[in-house]
Amino acid sequence: MPDHATRSARYNRTAVTLHWLIAALLLGQFLFGWYLGDVPRNTPERGIFINLHKSTGILIGLLILLRIVWRLTHTPPALPDTTPRWQQRAARISHGVLYACMLLMPLSGYLASNFSKHGVKLFNMVRLAPWGSDDKVIYAFFNQTHKLTALVLAAFVVLHILAVVKHQLIDRDKLISRMWPRASR
Ligand code: HEM
Ligand code: HEM
Repeated sequence: MPDHATRSARYNRTAVTLHWLIAALLLGQFLFGWYLGDVPRNTPERGIFINLHKSTGILIGLLILLRIVWRLTHTPPALPDTTPRWQQRAARISHGVLYACMLLMPLSGYLASNFSKHGVKLFNMVRLAPWGSDDKVIYAFFNQTHKLTALVLAAFVVLHILAVVKHQLIDRDKLISRMWPRASR
């Protein structure tokens, strides 16, 4: 790990762009996923909406992969030395959970689709034939993982936002400016 003093005090433009782009896309994908529950089963509309959700989900998944690779090859700015140890640890763990959920969301959806005869029809145009067997048990496992991960992700995003609000209102340390878009100098 580089010395704190040599690290920049804020996230750079690539990290900020990926953070906010993915946060916005995930919010949309979340709402889309929950909306799917209202689309009547065994109708052509359901197939169209599900395939659209799968297609946007795969694209978001690729963007998330890019972010994770970028993150593994770049060191984030250190928190100030005045940040209590437990808060530094809590931030590290919760960010880790957020990354794990971000990865698991599209991965579990993609895996589930490949253990169902439906597979994925990219943007309702290009059919990607499933590479797995049509197996209800395996499908249910990945489908349940998809649903459970959605809940864990939602809970940690709420916690994440509460932490930012706490920094803003109680600590008043402008933590948000570390991740806020700004013209580079
Ligand atoms: C990028 C991230 C993704 C997010 C945030 C997301 C989110 C969601 C949410 C919140 C639901 C509703 C869960 C529920 O009813 O409790 C859902 C359902 C679903 N998702 Fe995703 N999804 C993502 C990617 C994908 C991908 C890549 C696929 C497949 C290739 C997929 C396939 C499905 C299917 C088939 C359902 C309906 C499940 C059912 O009703 O049984 N999702 N998704
Ligand atoms: C789907 C929604 C979101 C996800 C998945 C997410 C995920 C993450 C992750 C993984 C990090 C750690 C970055 C790293 O060190 O690699 C991070 C940092 C950060 N996020 Fe989010 N975020 C989301 C929404 C938000 C929102 C709505 C806010 C503002 C209220 C926010 C504010 C921040 C800030 C200020 C940091 C930097 C924390 C620090 O300086 O250590 N995020 N976010």
